Amino acid sequence: QAAQKDGFKHFMLKEIFEQPKVIRDCLTGRIQKGRVVLPELDALNVPQRLTVVACGTSYHAGLWAKYLLESWARIPVQVEIASEFRYRDSVFLPGDLVLTISQSGETADTLAAIRIAREAGVPILGLCNVVGSSIARESDAVVYTQAGPEISVASTKAMCSQMVLLLLMTLSWGVRKGVLQGEILERCLHDLPLLPDQLEAELPTIREKAKTLSQEYADARSFFFLGRGQNFPLALEGALKLKEISYIHAEGYAAGEMKHGPIALIDQHFPTFAMALGDELLQKVASNLQEVQARGGRIIALVNPGASPAVENPWVLSDAWGPLKSFLVLPAVQLFAYEMAVYLGKDVDQPRNLAKSVTVE
Ligand code: G6P
Repeated sequence: QAAQKDGFKHFMLKEIFEQPKVIRDCLTGRIQKGRVVLPELDALNVPQRLTVVACGTSYHAGLWAKYLLESWARIPVQVEIASEFRYRDSVFLPGDLVLTISQSGETADTLAAIRIAREAGVPILGLCNVVGSSIARESDAVVYTQAGPEISVASTKAMCSQMVLLLLMTLSWGVRKGVLQGEILERCLHDLPLLPDQLEAELPTIREKAKTLSQEYADARSFFFLGRGQNFPLALEGALKLKEISYIHAEGYAAGEMKHGPIALIDQHFPTFAMALGDELLQKVASNLQEVQARGGRIIALVNPGASPAVENPWVLSDAWGPLKSFLVLPAVQLFAYEMAVYLGKDVDQPRNLAKSVTVE
């Protein structure tokens, strides 16, 4: 096992640090002559409506992609938790496509969702990491993520790989529909291949900062993770990671929704981890954070250089274009949870009560 960990203390840490390679591998052969190459999608019509079904971290990747699919490919998207979807009486429409996202390809609830879609005659696209898995076999078409085996129970690099492929799918469908603006396509295809080197250079610094902050906040019993737009699903993921491996209660929330109740919980013992990146929603997030601060809440905020709201602990990440910022945010929340769990002496790779793949209901 020590050899498999490549000198890292835990599989989770190794897998977080593998993300630059994962992005590279996911892009290999997928961008050619200014075009996205995803032949797996050729047999399917561009969906008129997309239902994404998944669990856990894969569900968060689906939520993240919804913003892009709607904005760039103009496809209406609903993202469903598989265990809810399977017992609802969903309405399907002509032109629907069900997209299931699963690292393992064996999650029972997601598999059940596929069977429901099949009975309703809806085509199914699988986004899986494990070749030949049940979900891959039962889908009409499969796109494989190239994350490599993920050993740590808490999923990290798999989400990164899902986000890359979901982004490429969005570009591909947007082009096929003729709705994607040329500048977006060009910028994205230009910047995506630069991302692995940027991330590789920055991961050690992100880890150091995560370590320092984890020690400073280790006595917190509860955390809010706040974001807006595409950072909202990343806030959900940050909260999930912290719960999973450090056993600290954490809630991911849409920053603009805090005022409708949760802000009542804020005091100096209930810190907030915010995503306050230099995007078009920054001013909105900044004013949400002022509300938190005014109630004595401590704040860690992921920010970009030169664009930070005034908070106790700004955590500066290097900038990237548009949605590519998310690929720096994701390892930051992962490493924060990791360092917190290490500091608190938890079993990082095998957290209590959790399984890598949930094959029973
Ligand atoms: C389990 C794992 C999670 C994972 C979820 C969905 O609960 O502990 O890390 O996100 O299953 O798994 P899947 O393989 O379907 O992506």
